[in-house]
Amino acid sequence: MLRDTLQRPLHDLRVSLTDHCNFRCSYCLPAELSRHELHRAPAAGKLTRDEHVRLIRIFTRLGVRKIRLTGGEPLLYKELAPLISDLREIPEIGDLALTTNGYLLERFAQPLKDAGLMRVNVSLDAMDDTVFGRMNGVGAGVARVLTGIAAAKRAGLDPVKVNMVVKRGVNDQGVMDMVREFRRTGVVLRFIEFMDVGNRNHWRPEDVVPTRDLVRRIDSHYPLTPIGPVRNQVAERYRYADGSGEIGFISSISRPFCGGCDRGRLTSAGQFVTCLFAAGGLDLRTPLRDGSTDTDIRRLIAATWNGRADRYSELRTAIRRNGEVVPEKVEMYQIGG
Ligand code: GTP
Ligand code: 5AD
Ligand code: SF4
Ligand code: SF4
Repeated sequence: MLRDTLQRPLHDLRVSLTDHCNFRCSYCLPAELSRHELHRAPAAGKLTRDEHVRLIRIFTRLGVRKIRLTGGEPLLYKELAPLISDLREIPEIGDLALTTNGYLLERFAQPLKDAGLMRVNVSLDAMDDTVFGRMNGVGAGVARVLTGIAAAKRAGLDPVKVNMVVKRGVNDQGVMDMVREFRRTGVVLRFIEFMDVGNRNHWRPEDVVPTRDLVRRIDSHYPLTPIGPVRNQVAERYRYADGSGEIGFISSISRPFCGGCDRGRLTSAGQFVTCLFAAGGLDLRTPLRDGSTDTDIRRLIAATWNGRADRYSELRTAIRRNGEVVPEKVEMYQIGG
């Protein structure tokens, strides 16, 4: 069984299908960045659908059982439904999910379900149009994302989870509105601490609202009961004591979860990245295209995972305290979270 230097297996693969997005979220792809600064992969450098399928099949030989398709915005990937159908042919994949901003979801929910997608996580940072428009950087409204969420539920993508990135002074006043919107709907709302992903989102520790504060705030309105942890899930889960559903908290800043991190990441240009905060990754596109066999590629991936020691979130505080220089990290829109 494949293990890294901290004895962690490789169980999940997050696959970024494109580094393009129709949003410009301030915490990911800030609107002020010029095209030139984005360093997007040229079209010819992106993996084709067949290359994705071949590579993902190789990853399943190494223990991967859970695939999450991300972006950028994965609904902009032209061959998404056919890719999902292809992936459903791989019997080892037990969980096939998608993370999207929801803007195009109304149109895609049913076709993707028909293709074999199991579930979907939708990002939504506010119920207020002005706040949401400011956070998504393009003025996109809330109603259209809600329509997408409703379509996903209707199509039977289950469960639907909603991700809210919380930034102090920007959208944290809207937390209870989000709670009220999604209680009793079956949608699992999760609050994400704003993270220092990439190099250009102007992250400051004081902009993070720690999970313990949010739990206290929500619990004072709607009492919460913790649910035991599920292996390898990033969210701490709670149930409303009155039976009106489940919510979660993803606390990479205040309660890092590197100890159980069994997630690898693949960029749309075919780089295998072993941590959300890594500076780079292993190029798999070249061996995919130079006649290397599946066994050759499997060995390359295994060697990289064997040498993996990443635990950035656990080291973040010490790194900052010591004023250590962190090399330029991979950007969020290249790696999909
Ligand atoms: P589920 O399988 O539904 O639990 O998905 P998920 O929560 O792992 O995926 P999603 O794409 O919804 O991501 C939610 C948040 O968790 C995003 O902000 C991700 O960046 C963050 N996240 C996921 N995996 C990791 C990780 O390994 N490290 C850190 N620091 N954050 C992660
Ligand atoms: N901090 C926390 N979460 C982030 N996401 C994107 N950028 C950040 C960040 N800097 C979230 C998105 C999406 C998920 C894949 O990651 O909102 O829900
Ligand atoms: Fe696009 Fe998601 Fe990044 Fe927002 S967080 S800019 S929706 S990739
Ligand atoms: Fe995994 Fe890196 Fe996130 Fe830690 S910081 S949980 S090692 S991706």
